[in-house]
Amino acid sequence: MTAPRPILVTGGAGFIGSHACKQLAAAGYLPITFDNLSRGHRRAVRWGPLIVGDIRDSAALECAIAEYRPEAILHFAALAYVGESVADPSPYYSHNVAGTLAILDAARGAGIDQLVFSSSCATYGVPDTLPVSETAPQRPVSPYGRTKLFCEQIIQDYAAAYGLRYVILRYFNASGCDPDGDLGEWHTPETHLVPRILMAANGIIPSVEIFGSDHATPDGTCVRDFIHVTDLAHAHVLALDYMSSGGKSLAVNIGSGQGVSVRDILDAVSRNTGRPVPTEMRPRRQGDPPILYADPALARRTLGFSARLSNINVILGTAAAAFASPAATGAAEGRGWQPTPFHADRSGITAKLEP
Ligand SMILES: NC(=O)c1ccc[n+]([C@@H]2O[C@H](COP(=O)([O-])OP(=O)(O)OC[C@H]3O[C@@H](n4cnc5c(N)ncnc54)[C@H](O)[C@@H]3O)[C@@H](O)[C@H]2O)c1
Repeated sequence: MTAPRPILVTGGAGFIGSHACKQLAAAGYLPITFDNLSRGHRRAVRWGPLIVGDIRDSAALECAIAEYRPEAILHFAALAYVGESVADPSPYYSHNVAGTLAILDAARGAGIDQLVFSSSCATYGVPDTLPVSETAPQRPVSPYGRTKLFCEQIIQDYAAAYGLRYVILRYFNASGCDPDGDLGEWHTPETHLVPRILMAANGIIPSVEIFGSDHATPDGTCVRDFIHVTDLAHAHVLALDYMSSGGKSLAVNIGSGQGVSVRDILDAVSRNTGRPVPTEMRPRRQGDPPILYADPALARRTLGFSARLSNINVILGTAAAAFASPAATGAAEGRGWQPTPFHADRSGITAKLEP
């Protein structure tokens, strides 16, 4: 039996990073989580060791790298709330940009030449054409989006000068939860739409805010590309395989290629639970694109990626099941509420993802 190949996973205790660690372990890697647990959870780190540390702490990074000798780095660690980044940009530039710089320098110092970076569709801002392809102009409208774009540019400069190879993954809207119920989405506060709708449907919050019903879309609400977190996690394994087999550096969208409106999700939940989801209408948010969905063709061509679980019923079903699962709710932390069952169409969860 060959030993699992060590990979340093910054932010591996967070939502997407923890799902990626599960996939990495299944694919024969040893995920070594490096996370300061500011927004992640110790209990999400189940498939390899956890090093509690801040990515801006170069000495701690160097120590972790010296101990485990990872062959590549998956860099998820970041602050990731758009609204918070507008109100308080300083920590965003520090954690996201200075943090990425520290990772790049530590990698360079240790001779690690493969990096997968968590970027975002937020780097595109309001696109001129749809679906959004990787050649679309990147004009982020929030400090958060700008931090991701700056990181992309720094990574590209390091690649040109120091021989780093990278895969930049521009995620669309990560959603859903581990289909086996091992992991949930445990953001605090939770700002993402799918869990907030389920929270409102379950009376955890009084209502879910809808930002604009007069967008230039078929039903007036925003249209987004919801990518199941397990699909997203799998893209990281494919990115590592791609680099291992000599693939060239790449920036690529990871989305389903489908647009789903906020109203579509509310309707799906209402149909399922038999009662409307309480909503609170709010004005449009400045800079919110009415419609945003990915052109997934480059990911298919280069990484062999295709979204397999990213239909809204599977997303809602797995997210709702995570509310109900003791492992995934963190019942030990005493949330102590009983969710409304969501009888999802699980037909999309047929084939297990291959490692
Ligand atoms: N969730 C989405 O829909 C989405 C979309 C596009 C891009 N992204 C990006 O994907 C990545 C993961 O997002 P997520 O939703 O899992 O977020 P998350 O908040 O659940 O996870 C981020 C993790 O990084 C850790 N972290 C933050 N700053 C750190 C630091 N300075 N040092 C060490 N650890 C630190 C946190 O403790 C947390 O565990 C982020 O880079 C985010 O910007 C997310």
